[in-house]
Amino acid sequence: MKRTRISAIDVGTTKVCTIMGDIDEKNNVRIMGVGLAPSQGLSKGMVVNINEARDSIREAVHKAERTAGYKMESACVGVTGRHISSVNNKGAVAISRTDRLVRPEDLKRVLEVARSVEVPNDQKVLHVIPRVYTVDGQDGVKDPVGMHGFRLDVETHIITAAATSVQNLTKCIRGIGIEIDDLILEPLAAAEAVLEPEERLDGVMLADIGGSTTDIAVFKDNSVCFTSILPIGGYQISRDISIGLGLSFEAAEELKKRFGNVAPWHGEEPEADKPITYGQHSISSRDLSEIIRARVEELVRLILIESPEKDFAHFIPSGLVLTGGGANLAGLAELSHDITRVPVRIGIPPSIPGVSDALCDPAYATSVGLMLWRSRNKGAQMPQSKGGFRGLVSPVLRLFR
Ligand SMILES: Nc1ncnc2c1ncn2[C@@H]1O[C@H](COP(=O)(O)OP(=O)(O)OP(=O)(O)O)[C@@H](O)[C@H]1O
Ligand SMILES: [Mg+2]
Repeated sequence: MKRTRISAIDVGTTKVCTIMGDIDEKNNVRIMGVGLAPSQGLSKGMVVNINEARDSIREAVHKAERTAGYKMESACVGVTGRHISSVNNKGAVAISRTDRLVRPEDLKRVLEVARSVEVPNDQKVLHVIPRVYTVDGQDGVKDPVGMHGFRLDVETHIITAAATSVQNLTKCIRGIGIEIDDLILEPLAAAEAVLEPEERLDGVMLADIGGSTTDIAVFKDNSVCFTSILPIGGYQISRDISIGLGLSFEAAEELKKRFGNVAPWHGEEPEADKPITYGQHSISSRDLSEIIRARVEELVRLILIESPEKDFAHFIPSGLVLTGGGANLAGLAELSHDITRVPVRIGIPPSIPGVSDALCDPAYATSVGLMLWRSRNKGAQMPQSKGGFRGLVSPVLRLFR
């Protein structure tokens, strides 16, 4: 069976993760190589030092290439950062041919109309995602091709990014000889890896808690209706521990990962007052979890405020799916449920054939999701019901060349 090579580069603020693999004719993904490197030269999802960022990406790419045994030529790249904005916009076109049959080129036309929103000069359109079509007033149409009508309307979710931020990222990647197949907003990639189809249909909010950003995407009726990037993540939790307990940042980070637990206390648990010995420090579990909990409570509330509908229990009945490295924090789902009163679960990427064992961790949701996005949208020239639209993403890439 013919197999096509695909790769992904997830440039996070704590790690760069690259994945190489291939897909067969049925779009089944196989992973051939994974490369990880600590991330340098990035702040809140944006490149702040091109040389350092390029070196980190190069290291992660070389590691993946060594396992895969071949060179990475092109990759699907994740984009995040507080420079991202999004808006919902509508478009309409007439079907003027005598047969009144909606054809693929009409979808392209109507999306071009919807795409023509006012974007500030320093922003560029990253995605134009068709959410739902209307044919002659009949709404809720997911795929209008082949239907008859005089008028075709579309509702879209449009995501824009600061041109310079994306240029800096693409420059780092092209600087090591890798072409870019697609630029994908990171929470859309993470959603590919951790959300169930029923959740997207009923309404769900995804939050990818990374090192210094929390990436949010809300899905309803099987399509994305809201995206946003909060400039806060696991880094702020570790910094609070470091300040609150007078430890180095590295020690605080280590303590958080090894002993951090924010599960709500129900009564006077004696273990809460047990001291934790770390190097020459001795701290109480209760102090540690109280510091973490204050930050996490604030983060969960900030995530919830982002919901486009205030009656979120009704709007997102499938609740909150938390992923990203920060979602590894013990007790996070319970605490988040206590705050939000909606179902909360931790999103772990699925196991994929090949050398992917270590990827079944929330920290790799975006990286695995980029591979799945690429496999599901590869070569598609027309909009995908799940939200990919290569036909419009590619012209964006030309802008950044
Ligand atoms: N077991 C754990 N408990 C608590 N936090 C954890 C745990 N494991 C990892 N983290 C936190 O997860 C964060 C890193 O997550 P992730 O790898 O998803 O970030 P990233 O993708 O590099 O960053 P970003 O998406 O913000 O650019 C760090 O702040 C780290 O402290
Ligand atoms: Mg990330």
